[in-house]
Amino acid sequence: MSLLVTGGTGYIGSHTVVELIEKGHEVVIVDNLSNSSTRVLSRIEALTGVFPTFIQADICDAKAMSDVFSQHDIEAVIHFAGLKAVGESNEIPLSYYQNNVSGSITLFEIMAKFNVKKLVFSSSATVYGENNISPLDESMATSATNPYGQTKLMIENILMDLAKSDTKWSIACLRYFNPIGAHASGTMGENPNGIPNNLLPYVAQVAVGRLAQLNVFGDDYDTPDGTGVRDYIHVVDLALGHIKAVEALNDLQGCQPINLGTGNGTSVLEIVKSFKAISGKDIPYAIVPRRVGDIATVFANADKALTLLNWKAVRDLNTMIEDTWRWQSQNPNGFE
Ligand code: NAD
Ligand code: UD1
Repeated sequence: MSLLVTGGTGYIGSHTVVELIEKGHEVVIVDNLSNSSTRVLSRIEALTGVFPTFIQADICDAKAMSDVFSQHDIEAVIHFAGLKAVGESNEIPLSYYQNNVSGSITLFEIMAKFNVKKLVFSSSATVYGENNISPLDESMATSATNPYGQTKLMIENILMDLAKSDTKWSIACLRYFNPIGAHASGTMGENPNGIPNNLLPYVAQVAVGRLAQLNVFGDDYDTPDGTGVRDYIHVVDLALGHIKAVEALNDLQGCQPINLGTGNGTSVLEIVKSFKAISGKDIPYAIVPRRVGDIATVFANADKALTLLNWKAVRDLNTMIEDTWRWQSQNPNGFE
């Protein structure tokens, strides 16, 4: 299949591009490089033998996006492009609504104009809000507690309405749990700007000596060791979920929300313990107050992905941490 991948030089996008090329799909990447670099393209080439077609463009730029569709024969779109930092979204909400929501509407309008109505969208488990009890399944009520989460929910709602208005649309809204890990080669991984917000890149940077200690946000949750429990999923499993989704679009009805998670929960202290054992490095940490907006336990019911996509995460936590460590230790400064 010939695919447009927006946000394809980013963390999840780049891993997905590798798997797509290895499965024989043709890929055109569009990215504005606001949170990634073209250095990843040669890493993709080294792994696959193919230097992917890359267009530096913004999804908000209707003319540039129209040019992409007129110059390339696109059958379906995987839409990763978006801003993703929860804290930042509280500070600059308009930029999040503009980039994520307006940008997505522009993309969907151009897809409609070119009669490309197959779409896989990067949603998030954040749309389950704070009031549902894990395991979370797709029938549960959705809500959002910050502008980033609102943008994901708004885009899902827009896509539901779009699919109702025109039955030719076939859409998978993939709700990711907590993507971690890196390509097994150690040549591609997550490369956050500045101080990481998420747990795994933070722990990895402590292990490699870039950061002094981890702050554990609360040890008084109602969980086995008091620290937050999450459903960590290997980025390569996640990438393979996108391939299953894109290949299933012909058979999907309308717009389907689908969880991509493992169904297992792991606490912050369990992550620290495993990372220490695998890296052989000390991970100093301090318990600090809870982070605003965090909840105790989040993990997926992943049955729908198995039923609809024949997809299941297979990489275990040790593999996720080994791959994170290989990437971090071989590339202490990311792609620089
Ligand atoms: P990322 O920041 O590494 O990748 C996103 C890419 O989109 C970047 O390369 C960035 O430059 C690009 N981009 C942003 N705005 C753009 C625009 N207007 N036009 C063109 N390109 C643009 O993030 P990621 O972790 O790979 O996440 C990919 C998607 O998955 C995002 O939509 C994110 O919200 C979603 N998601 C991520 C996580 C996670 O924990 N990483 C969890 C749930 C959902
Ligand atoms: C966060 C976002 C969520 C987003 C997801 C992926 C919040 C409130 N939620 O989810 O919307 O979809 O990232 O980008 O920001 N932790 C520490 N110390 C740290 C970092 C994290 O103790 O320095 C703990 C957290 O309290 C949590 C766990 O580690 O219990 C995982 O945190 P994180 O990686 O930020 O993911 P989420 O909070 O699940």
